[in-house]
Amino acid sequence: MKKGLSFEFSQVTEMAALAAFEWVGKGNKNAADDAAVKAMRDLLSQMAIRGEIVIGEGEIDDAPMLYIGESVGLNRAGDDEVSIAVDPIDGTRMTAMGQANALSVLAVGKQGAFLKAPDMYMEKLIVGKEAKEVIDLALPLDQNLHQIAKAKKKPLLALRVAILDKPRHSEIINQMQQLGVSVISIPDGDVAAAVQCCLPNANIDLLYGIGGAPEGVIAAAAVRALGGNMQARLLPRNQVKGNSVETQRLAEMEIARCKALNVPVNEILKLDDLVCNDEVTFVATGITHGELVKGIQYNNKMFTTETLLICGETNSIHKMQSSYLGNKKTDCAV
Ligand code: FBP
Repeated sequence: MKKGLSFEFSQVTEMAALAAFEWVGKGNKNAADDAAVKAMRDLLSQMAIRGEIVIGEGEIDDAPMLYIGESVGLNRAGDDEVSIAVDPIDGTRMTAMGQANALSVLAVGKQGAFLKAPDMYMEKLIVGKEAKEVIDLALPLDQNLHQIAKAKKKPLLALRVAILDKPRHSEIINQMQQLGVSVISIPDGDVAAAVQCCLPNANIDLLYGIGGAPEGVIAAAAVRALGGNMQARLLPRNQVKGNSVETQRLAEMEIARCKALNVPVNEILKLDDLVCNDEVTFVATGITHGELVKGIQYNNKMFTTETLLICGETNSIHKMQSSYLGNKKTDCAV
C-alpha cells in the first residue's frame, strides 16, 4: 500500500466512531449502526483506492451500504487495489446501552488477503507471539491451556483467558475455573480482547470461544500483523444456538453460502487461511471506554478520539489521539 494510506484508514474508523457516539446510551442499536456505516462509507468513497468490501454489513440484498462485494474508493487507474473488512461498530448493544468496550474497526490488505467468511459463528483460539507454535483446536481446550502456560513460562493458575460471557460458554467457563485459570468474561465485543492478547505486555494470555466470523477475520488481521496465532472453525447456527426449526433453516443457508464461497464448515482454519499475508493494516477507534482504546471524550465542544493502528507492513503499532471540533479535525498527536 502507498505510504500514508494506513493512516488515512484511521480517519475512517474515527469518523464512524464519532457518528456512533451520537447514539451512545440512546437504546437504538440500528440507528447507531446506520450512522457509523454511513460515515465509514462516506470516507472510504473519497480515498485513493480501488477497494472491495469483503467483510461488511451483509449481502447486497439486505445491506444497502458496505455490503460484501461493494466497491469503494475513487477507483482510478494506479490507485491501490485493496480488500477491506469492516465492522463499523463492534458492540452495537454496548453503544446503545452506553456500556464499555464498543469499537469502530476495520482491516485492509492486498486484494485477496482475507477469508470471505459469511456472517455466521466462528470458534476462535487466539494467542500472542510466545505461544504461537503450541495451539491446536483439534486438541481439547485444557491441553491447549497447559501448552500455552508452558510456552509462556507461567503456571496454569496465572493464565488469563478472555471469553464472551454467553450461555453457550457457561460450561467451559466453569471447567476453566475448576482448573484454576482466571477467566475474564466480556459481555460483547471479542475483537478488542483478541487484539489485546497479542499486544506486547498483554494482560490477557488467550482468547477462546464462539463469536462472529466477520469479527474473527478482522481480529485475525491484527493477530497476523502482531505475530500472534489463531485457529478457527466456522460453525452453523444450530450447533451454537440449539436445534430449533429457525436455527436449522439459517444453518442450511449458512452452509450453502460457505459452499458457494468454497469455505469449509466445521474444519480447522489456520491463520494463513484467515489472512494470507503479513502486509495488513488493522485500525480501531474507541466509541465507549475500553482497555484497548479509550472511548470518545467530549469536553469544551471538542471530541477526542483514541485510535489504535497496527501496520503489518512496517511492523508498527501506533496509538493516536485526535481532536475534532464538531466534525472538523483540529489536531492530531501521535
Ligand atoms: P455486533 O456489535 O457487531 O453485533 O457484535 C458484537 C459481538 O459481541 C461480537 O464481538 C461477537 O463476535 C459477536 O457479537 C457474538 O455474537 P452473539 O452476540 O450472537 O453471541
